[in-house]
Amino acid sequence: MHYRAIVANLLRFIRETMMRQPLVLGNWKMNGSIALASELIQSIGAGIDDKMSCEIGICVPFVYLNVANLNVQGSKISIGAQTVSEYPPGAYTGEISAEMLSDLKCKWVLIGHSERRQYFNETDEQLVLKVKVSQKEGLTPVFCIGETEKERQDNKTFEVIERQLKELLSDKSIDFNNIVLAYEPVWAIGTGLSATPEEAQVVHAYIRNLLATKVPEKAQTTRILYGGSVNAGNAQTLLNQQDIDGGLIGGASLNAEAFLTICRHAK
Ligand code: PGA
Repeated sequence: MHYRAIVANLLRFIRETMMRQPLVLGNWKMNGSIALASELIQSIGAGIDDKMSCEIGICVPFVYLNVANLNVQGSKISIGAQTVSEYPPGAYTGEISAEMLSDLKCKWVLIGHSERRQYFNETDEQLVLKVKVSQKEGLTPVFCIGETEKERQDNKTFEVIERQLKELLSDKSIDFNNIVLAYEPVWAIGTGLSATPEEAQVVHAYIRNLLATKVPEKAQTTRILYGGSVNAGNAQTLLNQQDIDGGLIGGASLNAEAFLTICRHAK
């Protein structure tokens, strides 16, 4: 390759890598109360300083979206939901549509969290539909993937990741300008047993490689978060890895100080 072409490619790579602003997203799961929601969001908002270069979001239970909205006013925190219906508004008792989330000023919506896959039997096909309805309403889906402990022991991590991404990566109507991926090894979620930075980086690089083969122009710009027992103590080394563009934080997002420390480490 010509010298100039090599330099141009290198510069493009550096530019695109730098375009991935880190994102730290809290996932409260089914926790909280009206009082806690306002208190926690206010404390986090008050603790954000100019030195934090990451984007910060919090995915709260549906019933606290309103109170969360009131309390993020004037702060740089954006709000998200933890799932969404794949159906349009209509006769689907108990469901929440993408239109409703958009109306509630959500920016993010988690899709395919392992707890949804495990306890609510959400399938890859259904999850891709959820991505589509969300994008249509201007929400940014955060598409979660990750292997179980057994799958890792059986050396099936890459196979599982590839299977979970297959539908998404082969669907031409998905807008890869507006999606975030999250690698969350199931064995690391809520267990205190985070993946090591090296273990996580290997899988993140694999995911980016898959992106490169299916949506090459978006491989360097798509953010891939790591989730699974990220805390104030391990965030720095995890979030410093080349292909880790931020964190999806469960337990530690319920503690303002811990969450803010993680945000500080996402550079
Ligand atoms: P955890 O959860 O940080 O409590 O492990 C992460 C998640 O489930 O998103």
